[in-house]
Amino acid sequence: MFTKIKNKQATISVIGLGYVGLPIALEFAKKAKVIGFDIKPERVELMKQGIDPSKELDSKEFNGCDIEFTANAEDIKRAHFHIIAVPTPIDDHNLPDLKPIIAASKTVGAALKKGDYVVYESTVYPGCTEEDCVPVLEKLSGLKFEIDFKVGFSPERINPGDKVHTLTSITKVVSGCDAEALDNVAKIYEMVIKAGVHRASSLKVAEAAKIIENTQRDVNIALMYELSLIFNRMNINTYDVLEAAGTKWNFLKFFPGLVGGHCIGVDPYYLLHKAKEVGYHAKMIDSGRFINDSMGGYVAKQVVKKIIAADKNIKDARVLVMGVTFKEDVADIRNSKVVDVVRELQSYCVNVEAIDPHASIKEVKEEYGYDMVEKVTGKYDAVVLAVQHEEYKNLTEDYFKLLLNEKGLFVDLKGIYKNKIKDLKYWSL
Ligand SMILES: NC(=O)c1ccc[n+]([C@@H]2O[C@H](COP(=O)([O-])OP(=O)(O)OC[C@H]3O[C@@H](n4cnc5c(N)ncnc54)[C@H](O)[C@@H]3O)[C@@H](O)[C@H]2O)c1
Repeated sequence: MFTKIKNKQATISVIGLGYVGLPIALEFAKKAKVIGFDIKPERVELMKQGIDPSKELDSKEFNGCDIEFTANAEDIKRAHFHIIAVPTPIDDHNLPDLKPIIAASKTVGAALKKGDYVVYESTVYPGCTEEDCVPVLEKLSGLKFEIDFKVGFSPERINPGDKVHTLTSITKVVSGCDAEALDNVAKIYEMVIKAGVHRASSLKVAEAAKIIENTQRDVNIALMYELSLIFNRMNINTYDVLEAAGTKWNFLKFFPGLVGGHCIGVDPYYLLHKAKEVGYHAKMIDSGRFINDSMGGYVAKQVVKKIIAADKNIKDARVLVMGVTFKEDVADIRNSKVVDVVRELQSYCVNVEAIDPHASIKEVKEEYGYDMVEKVTGKYDAVVLAVQHEEYKNLTEDYFKLLLNEKGLFVDLKGIYKNKIKDLKYWSL
């Protein structure tokens, strides 16, 4: 398969062209023949014009690529090495929602031919590829796994908004259902991943590796958040403590913050689900999730308490929330925990305005039902700097003074203005 792909005698198809799928499709298209398939025709139309609908890639990334974008599943039949990069969200009960990955498996299963490969890149729990996806491929294709077609799993590790750790500069974990599959999958990814690949010993190991990377982050951030709850009661600035402790060589550099998005706040639920299935209640992971999910409510309550303490009638209070995306310097608002802050403040009848230089007002309205403002309107009783976008990093105390009423509160969640605010009432985690 590797030789055929390299010589353009075989074609790669990428199913699901989002944050993960499009970059890998374009990277392969610099070296191989690629068909990029997505179920959303409007996204496909944009990509045909060299526009990344996820707003991560520059249009020049499309230049010189041997890629055909399509929303027609029939076109996948012309490909031989299929990469699936569709969402793996959770449902309202925090359980894995496998609908997109099963749907994509059906699409690929219907297009599968003898000798084809299917590689999953979507984040799943260990065992999902073989137990949940392969049977669908077999059923739809009428072919036999390992004999007629091979399967691999290669998790994606890109970090949206990160211009340093990019797709090609991060070691890629690869795996295959047997030695031959592993070798082909590894060599094919080596064509584009400059940092090289790590050959995992099985599909399950590769699946587990990805899920624990994000689980480890989640649990550590939860610990930092818990520390900030303790220190807040003692009037100790958590970031001051972390700065001091961080001078030790083996102190891990984690910080408290709102854990949103579709990876860190979601993936541990996949592992929790699997752990339960195999008879273990993973209490520590569960606690991490509980703690991090309660952060937005906690922040809002602190703001409310401080506004009341400043003798302001909470129903007349106006709060400006700066930043609504799930993390800094991205446009992605999915599973943003800033929304929890907004909703909790609103539940106290506070008048909340939210603003963000990256988020789309239309998308926020559709997803969360509230109207962001385009520009600030008058004075506020509190300003909550929730997301440390580049645009928000170098403002001055005078800037925040102009936004705030007398006795107004400046909440700097990530502590980026620590030691820079002299006169204003200031609170950070
Ligand atoms: N975004 C990240 O930073 C990141 C990083 C590492 C891993 N992951 C994982 O990668 C996977 C994909 O995430 P993403 O962020 O790229 O998602 P995304 O929402 O940005 O993109 C998914 C794309 O798949 C399309 N799609 C959905 N169902 C489909 C189907 N049945 N057939 C074809 N296309 C379909 C959607 O229209 C969308 O364009 C998830 O499992 C995620 O956990 C994401």
